[in-house]
Amino acid sequence: MKAQVHAFYHQDTSTLSYIVFDQPGGHAIVIDSVLDFSLSSGSVGTKFSDGLIAFLQEHQLTLDWILETHAHADHLSAASYLKRQVGGKIGVGKGITEVQKVFGELFAIPQARFSSGEDGFDHLFEDNEVFSFGSLTGHVLATPGHTSDSVTYVIDGNAFVGDTVFMPDFGTARCDFPGGDAAMLFDSITRIYALPDETRIWVCHDYQPGGRALEYQTTVAESKANNIHLQQHTTKLDFIHFREQRDHQLEVPKLLYPSVQVNILAGQLPEHFFKIPVREM
Ligand SMILES: [Fe+2]
Repeated sequence: MKAQVHAFYHQDTSTLSYIVFDQPGGHAIVIDSVLDFSLSSGSVGTKFSDGLIAFLQEHQLTLDWILETHAHADHLSAASYLKRQVGGKIGVGKGITEVQKVFGELFAIPQARFSSGEDGFDHLFEDNEVFSFGSLTGHVLATPGHTSDSVTYVIDGNAFVGDTVFMPDFGTARCDFPGGDAAMLFDSITRIYALPDETRIWVCHDYQPGGRALEYQTTVAESKANNIHLQQHTTKLDFIHFREQRDHQLEVPKLLYPSVQVNILAGQLPEHFFKIPVREM
């Protein structure tokens, strides 16, 4: 059975969420879901994720997995909301424990919450781990660099790469968050580029550079030939130099603090308040 992929674009955060399924009436997974969120009012909404649920219901799909490619810093995950509404197990890369350690301290979340299984995640994937849903099988590639927990889900010739590579005209992901590392990102993208040339790459964001129409699917061959930051023959040193220079110029993402404190808990919202740490300018 061939994997069927359906993309959903969350305009406010330029994020792509994906539903992958085997057949109508069969089994599905959701990758990188999004809650609507207004930073100015603190209000959270489910309109976008309700669209995912509507698709699942329309196609009579059982949701087996709710997967994250990493703890995102630019949107709030809807994983816990989806699980409450339609079930499914929430999965993320094992590297999440490092991200939880760093940001748990920053947000004064007791570490016990992470180790006691109350962090909302049902499964932490090892590198190369195999998982299945319905008649489909996928495997996990640890692809750290943007964050230490970043993974790529490879399913039937499709690679869901999170924030490692973007569309060829937008390049690659920043590596300046805690646990980020340009050398690791190079190695991870090299790993993705080692997949068969025809592998379809599905990106987690598209910022529509130059005002072009939305695009979110490329291939390994296209990326190797045309990615503006990292092509087949780009050297590791050149990439690291470029990436580090570039990252110095980037702004802190608008939703960094609300996102990370929710996403290290699988999209569970704080009881009353979002926290923003006080820093010197
Ligand atoms: Fe990200």
